[in-house]
Amino acid sequence: MAHYQAVGNIPPKRHTQHRRPGKGRTPGELYYEELMGEEGFSSDSSLLYHRNIPSTTIGAAVWELPDQSTTPNHPLVPRHLKLHDLFDAKAVRDTDVVTGRRLVLGNGDVRISYAVAAQASPWYRNGIGDECVYVERGKARVETVFGAFEVGEGDYVIIPRATTHRWIPKRSTKDPLRVYCIEANSHIAPPKRYLSKYGQLLEHAPYCERDLRQPAGPLLAEDVGERPDEQTEVYIKHRGNGPGGVVGTVHTLPFHPLDVVGWDGCLYPYVFNVRDFEPITGRIHQPPPVHQVFEGWNFVICNFVPRKVDYHPLAIPVPYYHSNVDSDEIMFYVDGDYEARKGSGIGKGSISVHPGGHPHGPQPGATEGSLGVERFDELAVMVDTFRPLELGEGGLAVDDGRYAASWSKGLVGGGDPGAAHSEG
Ligand SMILES: [Fe+2]
Repeated sequence: MAHYQAVGNIPPKRHTQHRRPGKGRTPGELYYEELMGEEGFSSDSSLLYHRNIPSTTIGAAVWELPDQSTTPNHPLVPRHLKLHDLFDAKAVRDTDVVTGRRLVLGNGDVRISYAVAAQASPWYRNGIGDECVYVERGKARVETVFGAFEVGEGDYVIIPRATTHRWIPKRSTKDPLRVYCIEANSHIAPPKRYLSKYGQLLEHAPYCERDLRQPAGPLLAEDVGERPDEQTEVYIKHRGNGPGGVVGTVHTLPFHPLDVVGWDGCLYPYVFNVRDFEPITGRIHQPPPVHQVFEGWNFVICNFVPRKVDYHPLAIPVPYYHSNVDSDEIMFYVDGDYEARKGSGIGKGSISVHPGGHPHGPQPGATEGSLGVERFDELAVMVDTFRPLELGEGGLAVDDGRYAASWSKGLVGGGDPGAAHSEG
C-alpha cells in the first residue's frame, strides 16, 4: 500500500543510530535496521528496527511441503470442486493454516489452497510472493513482525512476501477456521485503475483507505507471553526445483522473531473485509471487472457481494453466456442462497472452474427465472487467471465429476428450470 504508516519506536532520521535506553553515560545497544522493499529498491518499502540481527540463523532443514504437484485440466471440462469435503473433523484437529493447506488449483502465477484448522501454525514466511488469505468462517489472531490482527469471517488478509507471521485459530467459536489461500508469485494490490498516480484510492473505487485495517502497534515476544530469547523455527516457502517451482526450508533462530520495536513505510500487511466492498450496479448487467477487489501478476480477484441488481425495465439480472477467451475463471461460493442453482450441484463451499476455451453461463431456466428479481444475496470470491489452471491434489480429491453435464437437460446434474443465480 502506498499509505505511509509509522508504528512504535523509530529514530527521527532513517539510517542513523537508534539505540535501546542506556545506563548512565553508557549508551544502549544499537537496534538493527532492516529494509523490506519491493522491486529491488525501486518500489514500496518499510524500515524495521530489530533487537537482533535479522539475518541470524543457527540451523536449516528441509521442509517437506504438502503435495504441490498439479494435473492439467485435460480433456477440457468445467468442474465443480467441493472444498468442504477436504477436511473431516479429525483432520481439522490436527491441521494448521500453514503446513496443512491443501493445493486445489495452481499455475505458474498463483496457487489456490484451502485449510480448515484448529492448530496454531508455526512461524512462517512466503518468500515467493504475496498471500491473500480469505477467511470463510471462524476467527483467528494473525501475529506478524509488523503487529497483530484479529480476523474473522469475510476478511481478506494481505501479507506481503517475506513477512514472518503465524496463524492462531480461536477455538471458542462455533465454526472452525476455514481459509481460502491465494498465493501469488508476485505482489497483490488494489486494481491500478482505482489508484491515483501516487497510490491513493480514487472516488470511483469500491473501497477506500478507511476500510483497510493496519497493524495498530509493534508486537514483541513479551506481548504474547513468550521469551525474547526463545529459540524459534521459521518455515520458509521459496523458489526451487520442486513441483510448481516451490520448495520449503525451516530456519532455526536463536531468538524470538517478534523483536521489531518499531517500523515505518508503505509496505506492511493489512486486512479488508468483503462487507466493506461497495458494489457497483447499473440499469443493465455490469461486467465482472466492476467486482474486482485486488490484482496480482496475470490474475485478478473479484467478489460478488449482496447487491441490488440491474433495474432497466427489460433487464436480465443474470449474466449473458460468456467465453473468457483469455482466462480461466474460478468462483468460490461462500454464502447466500444457492438453492437457486439446484441442479448444478453448486452450494456453499463449492468452487466452479470455468476454463478458457469453453463458454459458460446460467444453468437452463435461470435466465427466465431471474426476470424481475431485484436483489442477489450471494457472496462469492472469484479468481481469474490468464494462464490455465491445473488441478492440485486437493482439487482432484473433491471434483464432483458431474458439473460438465449441468447445462444438458435430461443428463445427470442437468439444469433446474426457474433457477436464478448471478455470476459464474
Ligand atoms: Fe463467468
